[in-house]
Amino acid sequence: MSELLKTIKGRKSVRTFDGKPLSTEHRAQLEEIARSITNPFGVPVRFVLLDAKEHGLSSPVLSGDTLYAAGIVPKGPHAEEAYGYAFEKLVLCAWSLGIGTTWIGGTMKRELFERAAGLAEGEMMPCVTPLGYPAKNRSLRETLMRKGVGADSRLPAEKLFFDGHWDAPLAPEKQAAMADLIEMVRWAPSAVNKQPWRIIVTDQGCHFYEKKDKGFVSDKTGDLQRIDVGIALCHFVMGLEEQGRQPEVVTSDPGLPVPEGVEYVATVRVPE
Ligand SMILES: Cc1cc2nc3c(=O)[nH]c(=O)nc-3n(C[C@H](O)[C@H](O)[C@H](O)COP(=O)(O)O)c2cc1C
Repeated sequence: MSELLKTIKGRKSVRTFDGKPLSTEHRAQLEEIARSITNPFGVPVRFVLLDAKEHGLSSPVLSGDTLYAAGIVPKGPHAEEAYGYAFEKLVLCAWSLGIGTTWIGGTMKRELFERAAGLAEGEMMPCVTPLGYPAKNRSLRETLMRKGVGADSRLPAEKLFFDGHWDAPLAPEKQAAMADLIEMVRWAPSAVNKQPWRIIVTDQGCHFYEKKDKGFVSDKTGDLQRIDVGIALCHFVMGLEEQGRQPEVVTSDPGLPVPEGVEYVATVRVPE
């Protein structure tokens, strides 16, 4: 299994921490990584580390949390997909260092975090994540939460990847040719584990869409499910890069027919 796929499949949301602060070295490494993260949409996403005690921050789903990262993005075109892409890079880097995270877009006192993060006019802070070392055992609350959203399973490839048009699941031989990439997309985290990403594979590129559910859009968060698609896109692009390819991400809707409630997000092209 590729290193990246190992990281992606091994990562789980961590809601129960051991209560120890991050080592000075880990904190410095994460700060450095956060500063260097880019995304294909050219939208600036910045991160602020916030001490839980200093700012009185907590979340009802977490225990042993000591530090948070808040991600901030200017409102505007492609804000959400850029955000999902950039934030997920931080999540994967943290995991490779043995640091647990959980995307949190709902279960927190948002105003407290926004104030602590110094959110400015025209910006939004859709999500935060705790940063810390996983405790040996999950809390009962965390175990129940994971069960509630089926956090250990994902939709099969046939429901996510399509062959040229919406009604044709990607044939098994085509799936085999991109098996690792498919797994990387499948195992992306998403709000309430809804997995709203859909991909139509064509000769021109892989077109990423959002299959929208109700209740994920607000002024404070933007469209959380578009963030989810940014996360899946991040896994796909990182997977291609790991294979030594040079993927390009473009936003040019091919105009393929899709059902109502499905929105085009971006296309990944891989020059031969
Ligand atoms: C955009 C986004 C928002 C999320 N918001 C929350 C949240 O508010 N509270 C929470 O406990 N988990 C939240 N999650 C975590 C998901 O529930 C979790 O990723 C999903 O159930 C899959 O589990 P896994 O991350 O362990 O693979 C969020 C995830 C994403 C991507």
